[in-house]
Amino acid sequence: MSVMTQFISIAVDGPAASGKGTLARRLAEQFHLFYLDSGSVYRAVAKHILDLGKNPDNPEDAVSAALYVRDHLTTEMIDNPALRNDIVADATSRSCRFPPVRDVITETLRFYANHPPVSKHTKPFQGSILDGRDIGTVVCPNADVKLFLTANAKVRAERRFKELNAKGIETTYETVLQDMQDRDARDSGRETAPLKAAADAIHFDTSTMDVDTAFEKAVEVIRQKLA
Ligand code: C5P
Repeated sequence: MSVMTQFISIAVDGPAASGKGTLARRLAEQFHLFYLDSGSVYRAVAKHILDLGKNPDNPEDAVSAALYVRDHLTTEMIDNPALRNDIVADATSRSCRFPPVRDVITETLRFYANHPPVSKHTKPFQGSILDGRDIGTVVCPNADVKLFLTANAKVRAERRFKELNAKGIETTYETVLQDMQDRDARDSGRETAPLKAAADAIHFDTSTMDVDTAFEKAVEVIRQKLA
């Protein structure tokens, strides 16, 4: 007897260091979903601009980098630890604000959301889970479940500061907080695809909620939605 299995699509959005990546990774494992961190794809665009000595505030440089990333995207490219510093993060929120850049990357993300990679070594994914800023609103507006994570800026800056410290990157809490607030303002204030909760998103405030509690609540929400 063959069992029809439903393709599951999950969107997780929220500001920097709201815990969306950690949550999305755990949910991907739990439900056997393909996980894609859309922030890493936008970071890869910014890194390419910087590597070429070009300008993240120049729309033409940004679009040609987006096309490069679309055509050369690999797991290694988005897992590159060199994407995870504040210089790249700052350049990312500048270069990703141009509508043609967003069009190119949105289409790429949507393709992977609907067609998770297939490998002969693992059983096919049950669906996909993407995290970012505009997944529930723009990239996957028909996602089965949309989660929107928030946490106050001080808590998020504290988390990011600890992460950077653990990696041996020297900075101060005040710098991290300021950088984060600047980036949040650019991400929320841009005209195209700003950081915004979808009308049907379920909100989680992770300021005081630990990772395990957020995970358990999300699993319950997803099970209920899919039942
Ligand atoms: O999630 P992360 O902090 O790695 O994202 C880096 C930057 O990429 C964000 O500050 C934002 O400017 C951009 N981004 C975006 N849309 C997404 C994901 C990330 O604009 N869906």
